[in-house]
Amino acid sequence: MVIDYRTIAGTTDRLIVELTNTDVDEVVHSVEANYDTIFTWDYEKGARPKLSRLYEKAKTSMWNAQTDLPWDTEVDQERILMDRIDNLGGFDRGVDLSRTAFARWSDQDWVRFGVESQNWTLSQFMHGEQGALICTARIVENVPWIDAKYYAATQVMDEARHLEVFSKYLDTKLSGHYPINVHLRALLDDIISDNRWDMTYLGMQIMVEGLALAAFGFIYQMTGEPLLKQLLRYVMADEARHVAFGVLSLQDFYQNLTGAEIHERQEFAYEAAVRMRDRILQQEVWERMGVPMADALTLMEGSADRQLFQQLLFSKIVPNCKKLGLLDAGDGWLRKKFVDLGVICFEDWSDTGEEYEMFQLAEGTEASAAPQ
Ligand SMILES: [Fe+2]
Ligand SMILES: [Fe+2]
Repeated sequence: MVIDYRTIAGTTDRLIVELTNTDVDEVVHSVEANYDTIFTWDYEKGARPKLSRLYEKAKTSMWNAQTDLPWDTEVDQERILMDRIDNLGGFDRGVDLSRTAFARWSDQDWVRFGVESQNWTLSQFMHGEQGALICTARIVENVPWIDAKYYAATQVMDEARHLEVFSKYLDTKLSGHYPINVHLRALLDDIISDNRWDMTYLGMQIMVEGLALAAFGFIYQMTGEPLLKQLLRYVMADEARHVAFGVLSLQDFYQNLTGAEIHERQEFAYEAAVRMRDRILQQEVWERMGVPMADALTLMEGSADRQLFQQLLFSKIVPNCKKLGLLDAGDGWLRKKFVDLGVICFEDWSDTGEEYEMFQLAEGTEASAAPQ
């Protein structure tokens, strides 16, 4: 379902955007799952050469979250934000907010919002990284091929490192944490509770990680904070491999599924995409700032940056779905949906099956730019 921001506040969709995490003190969250753990006695390494190559690459691409990043960098969140706002030419940039709560906001309120927004975004990255850690550990268990088990084991380590860096950045450089967004949690729960091994891949490696890679790239381009920039550059080098792992693993497998099975995968991909794009709207920030959701939607709808960001989130997902054959299977069901979402324009962007080579870290990576 595509959510129309103009009507959302007056409909039942309001429940979707106004739903926030009420279990803020929850420390342990358990999800029931019933899946087969698969041993394989076929140890023929290299039977899937592309996965085997990816595994070799992963082994030599490890970095150390504690020692490879310049943690002594001083981060002044407000100062960095003010510099960016000055460059952009103002806070709200031409959106008519006269009949919203923002009409009464001072510059100080906008700065506080920017700070909270950054705390929220990095917190969700951190929670998402834990989702990736858990999904990849699951893949080690339930994927049937030895080359994939080897590779997934390296990704478990990568995700632990990502969780570690985002957690450390939040603790030592930013000014507060947010609990996991309720819609992100529901999506992770759905991925984890599905017992089919390829759904763990599709949900995490293709959809969530594809979106994360695009989001990291966007923030990498926008931020002037050198520690965050380098941190994201390192994480992106790993994430590009992870998405490639999903594409390379599912490509052959999907060729042998029935039309009905493929349609289920198309629906799953579409639902995940819409949930990530339309439901994860910083609800907890608006709540903390005392802004009614309808007013927040007015700001987001009018913001050209926000709209661009929402579109760009699909820049990895669409070409990867195409490479997997999901876009055009079954009379092009998913293609039509992506046309409706206005993101089909990304279909011929480079897919991530091979692109990870471009994201590799070079010597002295601080100076090397990330690809788009
Ligand atoms: Fe990650
Ligand atoms: Fe990842």
